[in-house]
Amino acid sequence: MIKFDFKTYIKPFIDENKFNELYNKKDEYINKLNSLEMTGWTKEIEESTINKIEETANYIKNNFDSLVVVGIGGSFLGSYSFHQAFKKYFNDDSFEVIYAGTTLSSKYLDELYEYLKNKNFCVNVISKSGTTMETNITYSLLKGLLKRKYNEEEIKRRIIITTDKEKGTLRQEVNENGYISFEIPSNIGGRYSFITPAHLLPLALNHNIKNIVDGYYDGKRYIDKAFEYAVIRKLLFDNKKVVENFCVYEENLSYFTEWLKQLFGETEGKNNVGIYPTSMVHTRDLHSLGQFVQEGNKIIFETFIKIDKTNHYIKYNEGDLHTINNIVEDSVERAHFSGNTPCIEIEIDELTETNLSELIYFFMLSAGFSGLLFGVDPFNQPGVEVYKKEVKESLNK
Ligand code: PA5
Repeated sequence: MIKFDFKTYIKPFIDENKFNELYNKKDEYINKLNSLEMTGWTKEIEESTINKIEETANYIKNNFDSLVVVGIGGSFLGSYSFHQAFKKYFNDDSFEVIYAGTTLSSKYLDELYEYLKNKNFCVNVISKSGTTMETNITYSLLKGLLKRKYNEEEIKRRIIITTDKEKGTLRQEVNENGYISFEIPSNIGGRYSFITPAHLLPLALNHNIKNIVDGYYDGKRYIDKAFEYAVIRKLLFDNKKVVENFCVYEENLSYFTEWLKQLFGETEGKNNVGIYPTSMVHTRDLHSLGQFVQEGNKIIFETFIKIDKTNHYIKYNEGDLHTINNIVEDSVERAHFSGNTPCIEIEIDELTETNLSELIYFFMLSAGFSGLLFGVDPFNQPGVEVYKKEVKESLNK
């Protein structure tokens, strides 16, 4: 269940006539979005895919001690941030899922190599294109390690590939070597691939993916709100509020804001437009960037993601800590608003798998609308190719 407050700390910054004019085009934008090819993420995932994911997760848990996920961007952030949101801060007892492929740090990979040497692990390589440099380098290093330890038959048991159904070198590898494999549908791009095996397989090791899938599709009921959020963001942008600061007040959600940054940043940031997404974890960052938000350059608006209830009750004086945290949050919104910062509030009643998944669908829908409101293709990321080309040229030299 999600609650929205798009008014209290927004009204003075938005022209009501402009809002009505744009909001009244809702049906037109819904049709526009639905007509785009890359909206496979709005369609139901097949039951047989969910069953295969669950079976493979059981196979991993019964045969290995760790899974190493190799992927980056939209092939990493969804499952990583979701799991982080629920992970215990201390004495974490979840099945070990290690993420690699997001860095070319020699230190990280050297230490990972050392750590895995005596571990019983398997690898899930996730790349829709199969051409991503960081993923390919990491995969080839890990394969080297597997080759030193095992014969071909054993390696076959330990590599799972998630990629396009037909295209790319990874699919070719599956066909040649008979590796276990999953498909990322051709009509779903990386940052919109949450409800695909790219994220559901790593998540199935520690989460009930049926809850995740159900919650996700429940998010459909917020389509009007998703459009409203997109309209408000666009009008704030037109009003020179060009930076969106996502605020959370649970450290566990700090990677969820990384997921949000990728979702909105890669969706909107084209043709010299788009809102620059950033984030803060409260109350920690109130003692750093909070100063800038309160009194600095007035280019920022904020989206607060709140959690109403927690099952961790800590009594403090006459009340409890979670209520205090919520009171602090409300006060921060009032303070920032008084400093000319518009604040949007999005609240879930409790941090559960279904609620977070519902929120994910809401944000994806809104990002899709937002891309259209900015007049860009929400589902491509041509700018990312520029650095890849530069790297290729430099490495060839
Ligand atoms: O959202 C996107 O499409 C990108 O962030 C990709 O997920 C990222 O570049 C990784 O691509 P791939 O899955 O092809 O390795």
